[in-house]
Amino acid sequence: MSEFPEGFLWGGATAANQLEGGYQEGGRGLSIADALPGGKDRFKIVSQPDFDWTIDTDKYTYPNHEGIDFYHHYKEDIALFAEMGFKCYRFSIAWSRIFPNGDETQPNEAGLKFYDDVIDECLANNIEPVITISHYELPLNLAKRYGGWKNRYLIEFYETFARTILTRYASKVKYWMTFNEINSAAHFPVMGQGLVPSTGANDKKNVFQAWHNQFVASAKAVKIAHELRDDIQVGCMILYATSYAYDSNPVNQLANLQHNQDFNFFCADVQVRGAYPTYTKRLLAEYNLTFDDLETTDGDLALLQQYPVDYIGFSYYMSSAVETTGSVTDTVAGNLMGGVKNPFLKASDWGWQIDPTGLRIALNELYDRYQKPLFVVENGLGAIDKPDKNFYVEDDYRIDYLKQHIEAMAGAIDDGVDLMGYTPWGCIDLVSASTGEMSKRYGFIYVDLDDQGHGTLARYPKKSFYWYQDVIKHNGLTKK
Ligand code: BG6
Repeated sequence: MSEFPEGFLWGGATAANQLEGGYQEGGRGLSIADALPGGKDRFKIVSQPDFDWTIDTDKYTYPNHEGIDFYHHYKEDIALFAEMGFKCYRFSIAWSRIFPNGDETQPNEAGLKFYDDVIDECLANNIEPVITISHYELPLNLAKRYGGWKNRYLIEFYETFARTILTRYASKVKYWMTFNEINSAAHFPVMGQGLVPSTGANDKKNVFQAWHNQFVASAKAVKIAHELRDDIQVGCMILYATSYAYDSNPVNQLANLQHNQDFNFFCADVQVRGAYPTYTKRLLAEYNLTFDDLETTDGDLALLQQYPVDYIGFSYYMSSAVETTGSVTDTVAGNLMGGVKNPFLKASDWGWQIDPTGLRIALNELYDRYQKPLFVVENGLGAIDKPDKNFYVEDDYRIDYLKQHIEAMAGAIDDGVDLMGYTPWGCIDLVSASTGEMSKRYGFIYVDLDDQGHGTLARYPKKSFYWYQDVIKHNGLTKK
């Protein structure tokens, strides 16, 4: 087993909207995540043509409102992370805690104070904070009044938000990411771009425009960050799902190449290389668009070029396969995207195809392409845990999944990849993003809370907690 580099950032990852709760406390405004109903139909509901972000508590439950109440439990939770030996903790800052409506000019001090406390608590426990500036939690007002990221005004609002939090925390926080899974909008623009069908989500021009605005906003954040601190590291964050051609049919090979360009690489190419890739022309043409259809300026393009990101953060849960001749009809679900079933892989309870080798491939593909440090900022197994009467969960299935992915990372490091760290997703159980369920658990720490909001909120280490503690202690797996 190879050694992980010294200083490797072992940790865990969460997002404000999925764990904080306290959705109306400390002057916080509403975010789009507050308007997502809980349950397996979440995406179906928000994809209805008439969905307009109305929160209807008579009809639906809204588990993101309470999350796991990290807002009041952060000290206890960070102490548990420290007990596992976390070197870093990735979390996001709820934009609507700082700017309740997103378009104010003055920040909400109570919101800033909350993150002062969270950051200080991390530092007191020798945990390096890793902050996602925007993780699927646009202020609701920006989605309702401005129509989400397709509106260029949002660049300015994001810049104000980013400048405020970077100025406040940059001296204490070295690692940042600008947008969570920015490329996920290719399949589902609701969470990343605040776009729903009634505001144009089904018109690809809006999705590309929203991306452009986000790219510019991201470059501005990189600029601000570097002006504040020389050694600051600002990354992009993409959803990477390694993709295989289903077979050696050249037609499928070409389709897979294009799928990789369009999904896995497009956003990162702009954010890392600082320019739109050549295949943008083909990609836009597929939707009868040209680059001139987008509202861009020379100043925008210069900013992209001048302020690329410093590293590539990415989530990796599963891989997918591409088949375009229609000969394979067996399909599977996935992280915001499905595909044809790969006969060599098993899937999770939610149909995500488990593929640790795909992570080694992902790391090689990304490093070959960009030669910038990589950071696996999400990975994990969403599963149904069955605690015993003492609330102890023997989650060997999760250990098995994580172990195989850590082996894959070690393999990639042997291959020469520069890997900075690993923050498994939902290090403490939280509300799932795609289905709003508590029962889809990822954590090393069990939280006593069910899908109906019942439970004591007490926290209990699972078997994986002690296993991960050992991994961190030894800077890697001790035996194969
Ligand atoms: C990623 C997101 O897509 O996957 C997280 O960045 C999300 O917010 C995670 O929670 C797992 O997805 P889910 O739907 O199982 O919560």
